[in-house]
Amino acid sequence: MHAAVIGLGTHLPPRLVTNGELAARFDTSDEWITSRTGIRTRHWAEPGTATGDLATEAGLRALKSAGLAPGDIDVVVLATTTPDHPCPATAPDVASRLGLGPVPAYDIAAVCSGFLYALAIGQAQIAAQQAGTVLVIGAETYSTILNPDDRTTSVIFGDGAGAVVLAAREDTDRPGALLGTHLGSDGAHKDLIRIPAGGSRYPTTAYTPEADRYFTMEGPKVFRQAVVRMGESATTLLHRIGWVAEKVDHLVGHQANARILTALAGQLDIPVERTVVNIDRVGNTSAASVPLALAHAARQGRLTPGDRILMTAFGGGLTWGSAALTWPDITPL
Ligand code: COA
Repeated sequence: MHAAVIGLGTHLPPRLVTNGELAARFDTSDEWITSRTGIRTRHWAEPGTATGDLATEAGLRALKSAGLAPGDIDVVVLATTTPDHPCPATAPDVASRLGLGPVPAYDIAAVCSGFLYALAIGQAQIAAQQAGTVLVIGAETYSTILNPDDRTTSVIFGDGAGAVVLAAREDTDRPGALLGTHLGSDGAHKDLIRIPAGGSRYPTTAYTPEADRYFTMEGPKVFRQAVVRMGESATTLLHRIGWVAEKVDHLVGHQANARILTALAGQLDIPVERTVVNIDRVGNTSAASVPLALAHAARQGRLTPGDRILMTAFGGGLTWGSAALTWPDITPL
């Protein structure tokens, strides 16, 4: 069996945080943030709102977009860096709140590549005939793990959620077909993106320095890795499925930095106009980034059923992944 995307839903928490608001709190400026990252606004959840809340809303909308009832979903895969609790996973709670019944539901931890990891796993479960439909969600509340003393990460990350419904099909001819995926990792660089404390290697105690409880990133080193790894992954996938770069209608890259997206398009030889960009509005939403960018392009009227879409992402781990899709005849909600 093959997997096809039959629904897409998103949710952003209502609170919009402008560069001006952050410039009043940190030693930064709208000019620095815009020119170095391309970000103008991002959404942050109100205190008390958790990743599972955003994921549930996006999941509900994806189900509606697919025209499915809760009982139609066989599996939930939720990608997140910011689960509601260190234990248990967030996916079972989301499945329960969506009324999906006693279906398998589990989290994937691949940081900003998480959505593409979850998509690949959903596709594999369908191919193995373990599921006829999979709800794949990427959801984050990075605002809960940002160091309030770190101006660099604080201006970059935003909260949000995006979800797709995958369904089994016997062929890949019709729009919506997920034609292939590619995943990779390199743990030798695990320290470039991390929350140092709070795991089994460095449990949090009353004496843990506050900075070690927050998200950290070595920006310039990550930047270089991101362009190279997403470029390699996307190229490998293109070869695998027999697409050439000129035939890609839309490049949907992880929205980590507008300059990375431009460099990536150049590396892949895809005209920069075919790159989908919504980082200016939402910032880096990590595992929610790719589905939010897809929905953004669809709402702008840029996507026609059958268009060839190349998605690629990179994140902590290090991890990376790519997926190829023909755009389905759906309306994202
Ligand atoms: N406002 C103003 N100045 C800032 C700042 C901010 N918010 N954040 C950092 N700076 C300063 C630095 O202190 C540094 O100053 P110095 O030259 O006096 O030391 C200067 O800006 C340049 O810092 P640097 O970290 O080299 O900036 P950069 O141009 O690399 O941009 C990132 C930083 C994080 C935006 C960029 O490295 C990036 O996007 N990295 C990749 C992120 C990514 O791919 N993530 C994917 C997985 S999540």
